Amino acid sequence: MTERVLVAGCGYVGSQAAVRLAARGCQVFGLRRRPRGLPDGVVPLAADLTDPGSLADLPPALDLVLYAASAGGGAEAAYQEAYVEGPRNLLEALARSGQAPRRVLFTSSTSVYAQTGGAWVDEDSPTEPPHPTGRLLLAGERVFRDGPFPAILLRLGGIYGPGRTRLAESVLEGSARLPGDGPRWTNRIHRDDAAGAVVHLACDVAEPAPVYLGVDREPAELAVVLRWLAAELGVPEPPPGPSAAGRRARGNRRCSSERLVASGYEHRFPTFREGYASLLAELRARRT
Ligand SMILES: NC(=O)c1ccc[n+]([C@@H]2O[C@H](COP(=O)([O-])OP(=O)(O)OC[C@H]3O[C@@H](n4cnc5c(N)ncnc54)[C@H](OP(=O)(O)O)[C@@H]3O)[C@@H](O)[C@H]2O)c1
Repeated sequence: MTERVLVAGCGYVGSQAAVRLAARGCQVFGLRRRPRGLPDGVVPLAADLTDPGSLADLPPALDLVLYAASAGGGAEAAYQEAYVEGPRNLLEALARSGQAPRRVLFTSSTSVYAQTGGAWVDEDSPTEPPHPTGRLLLAGERVFRDGPFPAILLRLGGIYGPGRTRLAESVLEGSARLPGDGPRWTNRIHRDDAAGAVVHLACDVAEPAPVYLGVDREPAELAVVLRWLAAELGVPEPPPGPSAAGRRARGNRRCSSERLVASGYEHRFPTFREGYASLLAELRARRT
């Protein structure tokens, strides 16, 4: 039977998940405020998750709902809207129209963790986010956890991929800096693996756990990543010092992908090396 799937927040990751689901024969609805340019095979739905009225006519008989809307910036009000109000409105709209999706999946973030100093974290580690934005993501997780439908929370690391190459560009431009105050651990996931993990957990795992970390298989020291990128791109190694990217980045922890891997997921890009190697042509083209 054809599965009917709603991707709420059909953006960078959501669109890739939608493409994969459509290729598997699902009927996929892609919801966003401005749904122009969604991939072929995805039915566009214009709606605002912060406006309950615009969710009154959701497609009926949905089997799966994926929530991948983002705040689009760091403002607390935007986080409240995207991760707390949006989920609440959507779940209420689904319940009100008598829907019973067999699974809902929320793309959360590893910023719900407070651990620093290179500590390992997994799905059972305490979540005591020091920043309001992390607390709002955690509040969004609770909306799904306490909601009426079976929920999966996928806490993604930093997403990179085609068109999302800021770290590598900073190496190319010469604005990257090696952390001057000891190792800084980073966790990332290529867009295709973020989308792949979403689809895997939503469709292929018979009895999913309530929470997964969505990261690649190798937490990496920022300095190691920057040096590797510099060598591959043929530019000088970044000097040590504070950088804009470093100031923005908050975490210093190692996130385990063990549960995701144990669930049967096979990363297409197991580490940053394979992931960035696939983007080098795009990056080199920017130099010319
Ligand atoms: N980027 C990262 O490194 C990172 C790290 C950890 C977790 N995550 C999480 O991963 C998920 C996917 O991220 P992404 O990079 O794919 O995000 P994205 O490209 O910004 O896509 C998010 C989509 O949500 C839609 N949206 C936002 N507000 C909406 C609203 N009120 N109503 C309807 N649609 C709305 C946007 O489209 P319109 O503007 O057209 O509405 C956009 O297409 C997000 O939940 C994000 O928080 C991301």
